[in-house]
Amino acid sequence: MTPPISPQPLTFWRRGQTVTLDQVPPDRTLLEVLREDLACTGTKEGCGEGDCGACTVVLGEAVNGKLHYKAINSCIRLAHSVQGMAVWTTEDLVSAQGELHPAQEALVQCHGSQCGFCTPGFVMSLFGMYQNSRGQPIDRAQAAADLSGNLCRCTGYRPLLDAAQQMGDLPLPAGCAVDEAGVVAALERLPSPAMQAYLRPTTLASLLQARSANPQAQVVAGCTDVGLWVNKMHKRFAQVLDVTAAEELRRVETYPHHIAIGAAVSLHEACGALVSERPQLKTFAQRFAGLPIRNSGTLGGNVANGSPIGDSMPLLMALGASVVLMRWDAKRHRVVHRELRLEDLYAGYRTNVMKADELLCWIKVPRRGEGEFLRVYKISKRFDEDISAVCLAIRMTLDGGKVHTISIGAGGVAATPVRARQTEAALLGQAWNADTVMAAAAALRAEFQPISDMRASAAYRQTVLGNLLQRFWLESQGLQAINLESVSMEALA
Ligand code: FES
Ligand code: FES
Repeated sequence: MTPPISPQPLTFWRRGQTVTLDQVPPDRTLLEVLREDLACTGTKEGCGEGDCGACTVVLGEAVNGKLHYKAINSCIRLAHSVQGMAVWTTEDLVSAQGELHPAQEALVQCHGSQCGFCTPGFVMSLFGMYQNSRGQPIDRAQAAADLSGNLCRCTGYRPLLDAAQQMGDLPLPAGCAVDEAGVVAALERLPSPAMQAYLRPTTLASLLQARSANPQAQVVAGCTDVGLWVNKMHKRFAQVLDVTAAEELRRVETYPHHIAIGAAVSLHEACGALVSERPQLKTFAQRFAGLPIRNSGTLGGNVANGSPIGDSMPLLMALGASVVLMRWDAKRHRVVHRELRLEDLYAGYRTNVMKADELLCWIKVPRRGEGEFLRVYKISKRFDEDISAVCLAIRMTLDGGKVHTISIGAGGVAATPVRARQTEAALLGQAWNADTVMAAAAALRAEFQPISDMRASAAYRQTVLGNLLQRFWLESQGLQAINLESVSMEALA
């Protein structure tokens, strides 16, 4: 019988010193470590599922000698994933002399401080924004986007947005400034404990070898879904394999015909790469999830997880993306791979065709084609930080007024993310006009038999599918401002 795997030590940097904890189980969350092991109760637990932002902390990671800051949800982040990083909580911003950091002072001056649950999270998102802005002004849209992962259930956001814009004008007390070079040097000196329970290999080959040797280990990337399995379903994991430190997979590579996104690239960076190629995806990228989720989550994790309501897959299917699966071939002592179209990855509800020793390592997205018309629509109850009831992505090219190419990806309508093949067939080669669209909308409504759940009824989902195709048609005819995205709540106030 295999002996049980022991918890392992965890080391990170906080408040100018090294924090070392012994015997931290691999499935312990960062929030549990902060509140229960370190008694730092300033960081709060609201939802425990990455929705509210009360648990937001900021991580600092040394990358090529520079400190990179990320606001993340500590409630669904496994503690060992911050091994070797710097951590700031809401208790760490004030100077030893009691001076407030500009993120705090701006909240006071703008009357933005609220209850003791949401405010610590807002402060930390503001701190992350402050550090990343590096003295550049923060406009209203940026402030709203970066605070979209923080919810207040009871009051207004205007003073918070004011604070985000004003904090850069306030003096930074010397005792509140981050000595970045000093932190990077401290991180480089942190010990790397031997890892058995929480494996975080730093090269692709060692990652695949670890997968091959530990097929029972729970694979995680940003852990934005697995964290819920721990918190809400009380699942326990004796061993975890984290893909995010594998150096080769932390890159976005651009080729003449496609971009390749490594499985360790965060959703925020992956969305940035997709938006720079196709700017019309900007709003969708922001609505995918709030910034703390996009900072932790990865595109590879979203795709490998295979949730029928994962937002990236409908878009990637419409774009004709493929996935590269890799494994370690021990006999030949090298990495081997195979490539699949994304829609061929899924075998059923949250199941896929990957073998026990394979990992999803790359997502290949075709570059933007000549004449491409692309839209992706997310239907959810909340504008920000919500899960889709339906997601529909459509990519089309026309030739001589007829549909030359068409690919449609849909989420929330079947057991897996799916291509709408029947609707595509109904459109291909047809004249692109209102009659064709009406017929195709009817085909799309009939193509899937979605379920009713708390997000939407089956009938709603079917109806909205066809409606979205009609919206796509209207937008293809030049109609603007027919999206929720074009409504400014501040302008309406
Ligand atoms: Fe709500 Fe973590 S407690 S996001
Ligand atoms: Fe804190 Fe609304 S949730 S004031």
